[in-house]
Amino acid sequence: MGFVLILSYKKETKKTMKKINHDLVIVGGGAAGLRAAIEASKVLDDVAVVSKVKTLRSHSVAAQGGIAAPLGNLPENKHDNWKRHYKDTVKGGGDLVDRDACEILTQNAGENVIELEHMGVPFNRTEEGWLDQRPFGGHSLPRAMYAADRTGHAILYTLYGQNLKLGTTFYDEYFILDLVSEDERVKGLIGYNIATGEPVLFSAGAVILATGGCSQSYEITSSGRASTGDGLGMAIRAGIPLEDMEFIQFHPTGLKGRGILVSEAARGEGGYLINGEGERFMHNYEPELMELAPRDVVTRAIQREINAGRGVGGEDYLYLDLTHFSRKKIESKIPTINQLAQDFADVDPAKNPIPIQPTAHYCMGGVPTDLTGRVRSRKGGEFWNNLYAAGEVACVSVHGANRLGTNSLLEAVTFGKRAGKHAACQSKQPHSEEIGEEEARRYEFGPDLLLKREGSTRPHQIRARLKEVMMETAGIFRDGEELKEGLERIRELKQIYSEDFRLDDRSRRFNTELMSGLELENMLNYSELIIRSALRREETRGAHYRLDFPERDDSNWLRHSFVSRNPSGEVEIEYRPVRGASEG
Ligand code: FUM
Repeated sequence: MGFVLILSYKKETKKTMKKINHDLVIVGGGAAGLRAAIEASKVLDDVAVVSKVKTLRSHSVAAQGGIAAPLGNLPENKHDNWKRHYKDTVKGGGDLVDRDACEILTQNAGENVIELEHMGVPFNRTEEGWLDQRPFGGHSLPRAMYAADRTGHAILYTLYGQNLKLGTTFYDEYFILDLVSEDERVKGLIGYNIATGEPVLFSAGAVILATGGCSQSYEITSSGRASTGDGLGMAIRAGIPLEDMEFIQFHPTGLKGRGILVSEAARGEGGYLINGEGERFMHNYEPELMELAPRDVVTRAIQREINAGRGVGGEDYLYLDLTHFSRKKIESKIPTINQLAQDFADVDPAKNPIPIQPTAHYCMGGVPTDLTGRVRSRKGGEFWNNLYAAGEVACVSVHGANRLGTNSLLEAVTFGKRAGKHAACQSKQPHSEEIGEEEARRYEFGPDLLLKREGSTRPHQIRARLKEVMMETAGIFRDGEELKEGLERIRELKQIYSEDFRLDDRSRRFNTELMSGLELENMLNYSELIIRSALRREETRGAHYRLDFPERDDSNWLRHSFVSRNPSGEVEIEYRPVRGASEG
């Protein structure tokens, strides 16, 4: 690691730009980023994690219900094995799952999860002392390893501790704005220190994007305030295509009005869904799997009940009923749900049902990678030299059109580990000529530009309107006319952003309005690509439900979409086959 000061980055302002050098820089400190750092540390001495938030507040901390692993160690799941997990995942994903990636995910799940246990994750055990697993939607046997309903919290803290032990360098509360690259080789990153506003150039032998999800562009979402798709924004500006962006998952049970996750663990443990007429309605939609059908199915069933006027009091929410659980079970198995229901809905789940509604939860698509995590380039079949991605920002294509619950933590650790290993090897190659002052100048410093703007619309106003647009036009049910309207409304918002934008706070230190403005550019850009991909896919599959094309159409659409902005700024979409789909 080294520090160099590049003076007068912009001559007119005589600002000082700090330059920091590492062998490997990982952007994002969630489960994927931290798992990558551990693996990379086996090869490199000099690994850094840069995070927009305090690392331990990364959104993985909010993952609740579990992490999938087909251990087959209990009487109720003794017939489980990786092939069964693989089949469930492919089926749940509407067959749009790359089979080689899914094989890696499921075949290594046991090993990767036990490894977490050995690192210190306190997974729940049965009375007899076996590692316990609970049922989850779309999984044909109980295979969700869990730590109460704080599984992500337990994993994140454990991975963080391991990184401290290994000497990973952390840059908390640094906002990374863009990749610094040439000919699809990344040289580093430009960003700034949120506390001081000071610009920073990170130069690196390799970079891993692990920046998490993007559901913040929806009004009702379970994702944390920081899930603004910054990695997607960087990728779009670098000309990287985004894969399968039309597939946005709504989790069936968000807390009414707030969207906060009420884990599927509640249904895995035996909770019911009840409509406004007091009916347990899932038998009308999925008589066999009931509340444990895959998420897209349960979400649509809830929304159909609401649309048919059977919400509670005719409103846009239903109930999750846990009143048949003992208090002991609620407190020991789902303490987070218990607390959230009391704090945010004023409901004691042992006595009253919890008001819920679907909430934007996860993006199945993202930055396309190969099986090592290496990022795909715009040129067909080629890859970036030393740029990797893992976790929700990435699309290695294990979730297809609809992710099964508990497969995201598994994906994050499985492919985070692989990306860490491969990026570390790539970084050992003679790396990065120092990024010089001249080169630094070529990258405009976004905060400077935003701080100077003299329009009238503040970022929170545009952000609120974007959230409405996405909810109304690219939500659970879609149709062509609404999607077109959504595109038009985003075009207008982009125009306001570029022509009539202002920040009230012109300071540099901890300027959260400035951050919000920078995030907004990313949100507008990827939201447009979500809608463009959704408009083009004229079929229904997984989380993408087109009212005007309600059937699945394998002959035309069993393929991945890749949407990008070409160098002249036009949006292009191309399609590629699903790997291994013809073999089943
Ligand atoms: O319901 C949940 O606990 C969410 C899990 C997941 O998205 O994997």
